[in-house]
Parts: sequence; C-alpha cells; structure tokens
Amino acid sequence: MQLSRIADDMNGGGVLSMEISVSPVHGRFVAEVAGVDLSKPLDDDYFHHIHDAFLEHSILVFRGQALTNEQHIAFSRRFGELEIHTAKHWLLPDFPEILVLSNRGENGTRPIVNGGAYWHSDMTYMAKPPLGSVLYALEVPPEGGDTLYTDMYAAYETLDEKTKGRIENLEVIHRYGDRYQMMASDDNDRPPLTPEQLAEVPDVVHPMVRTHPETGRKALFVNEGFTVAIVELAKDEGEALLEKLFSHSVQPAHVYRHRWQAGDLVMWDNRCTMHRATEYDLRYDRAMHRTTIQGDRPA
Ligand code: OGA
Ligand code: MN
Repeated sequence: MQLSRIADDMNGGGVLSMEISVSPVHGRFVAEVAGVDLSKPLDDDYFHHIHDAFLEHSILVFRGQALTNEQHIAFSRRFGELEIHTAKHWLLPDFPEILVLSNRGENGTRPIVNGGAYWHSDMTYMAKPPLGSVLYALEVPPEGGDTLYTDMYAAYETLDEKTKGRIENLEVIHRYGDRYQMMASDDNDRPPLTPEQLAEVPDVVHPMVRTHPETGRKALFVNEGFTVAIVELAKDEGEALLEKLFSHSVQPAHVYRHRWQAGDLVMWDNRCTMHRATEYDLRYDRAMHRTTIQGDRPA
C-alpha cells in the first residue's frame, strides 16, 4: 500500500513531499510503516491511511521517532479517548495518560521490571477493554527485553471446527487483582492495590469469541494474564479448555518478536492480539512510555 502526495508547505512556501509506505512483516500480521513523522500533526488523509493499515495488520511498527509526551498523546488521541490506569504509581505525574514502564522509574513513578511478562491483552478486565495501546521506546537494552505479539484472529481461524462450535457461545471472567498480587508477591516496587483501586476493577464477563467491531472478523478473546474462568463450565473443565486455548494461541507460527530500538513506536490492536514482555539483564536500563486508547464492550 502506497500513498504519495506533494503538498504545499504553508510555512516555508517550499514543497513538502511525504510518502508513507506500509510493509507487512509477518504475513498479513504486523506492518512496518515508514515515511511518517509522528511528532507532526497528521492530516486526515494520513490518519485514514494509518488507520486502515492498523485494521489490516493489527500491529504497526514506526521506527526512528522522536516524540515529546505531548506528541505521543496527540498521536494516540487521534484513535480515541485515552485510559488513565488504575495503578497510579506508574503514571507520569504531569501526564496521567502515560504509563511508565521503566526499570529505574521516572519522575517518581515506581520502577517496573518485566511488567507484562505473561501473555495478555491490555486491561481486558475492564467492561470496555482498550481498543489499543501505543508503546514508545525511550531506552532499551542492547539485548533481551523484546516484546512478543500473537495474532488472535489466526488463533481463532486455526481452531478445529468442533472446538469453534464448542466455544461459540461461552463467556469468560476477566480479573485484575489476582494477576497484580501475583506479580507483586516477588516485586517490592509494587505497592498492594488499595481497596478503592480494587473496587475500580471488579470482575467482568466477556464473550470468548469476539467479533471485531471495525473489521467484522472473529478473534479468540481470552488471555493468560487476566482470564480466570469460563462461566458455563465447571472449574476443572474450564481450566483445561483455557489452557488448551492459551497454548494454541501462542504457537510460534502466529508470533512476531519485536526487537526494540530506541525511538520505536509500536501500536497494537488490543481486540485481536496478545503480547508479552521477555527478560533482559537488569544491569541495563529499559524505559518505555505507553498510552492506552479506550475501546468498547466486546460483542
Ligand atoms: C505493555 C506491555 C511489554 C514490554 O506495554 O502493555 O505489556 O515488553 N509491555 O514492555
Ligand atoms: Mn501489556
């Protein structure tokens, strides 16, 4: 997909030439977008082009960006309102839309190490889970600390017909508190969630198979991070089925590994992908900023 255009540069009176190219990386899943400077306001043509690519590929990679917090927020805001995360100790003081994933902390935020080191989709424990997340790399280790992504359309499409039929109308419970406490148990930098914070994230029920509201494609919508039980099944039977679906979802053929460089911005569609952090040597600094775009109720 190519979009070229020559436009008058209103400021300089010269000619500004911009060309965006979208190159698929992993089959249809994941594309690298080149030729766009996200620090600049995007006009509607460019925005629509990027939005179409986002729906087509689910994950977009933009390399070599240099963004202020305001610019990161402004780009994210083109896709919708932004979430303010429940765990306030990771939010940038003057920019609560930005969640800081830094192993040294930043501006008083709590350090976080391997924060998402389990397969998940962000904040699916909300009644309206996010549409997507926009993760910007400020500082990355020379090796390790990659992020893995998997395609949940492919996970659904490659199930056998019998399993598809079995799960069609099942519902699942998503929960934040258990995962948070589990991660906190060996991380002194995580303060326990307060009763007020826990009250903000009660259990929610979502369909197991989700129809994407914009593409109409079906995706498997369960994740190891936050999906704790199947409503219609007995505990053991539900757990066995979830285990089977989790491992099916992350088979290597469906997984893309993002090797970060500082200045990378990766945005993912949270409705049809999962991701997980990987380990790295903690002598290295790793600092990322995430914004999270509000979504709608899964159907
Ligand atoms: C996230 C996340 C993984 C990573 O930003 O939501 O899970 O590798 N990040 O930092
Ligand atoms: Mn995450």
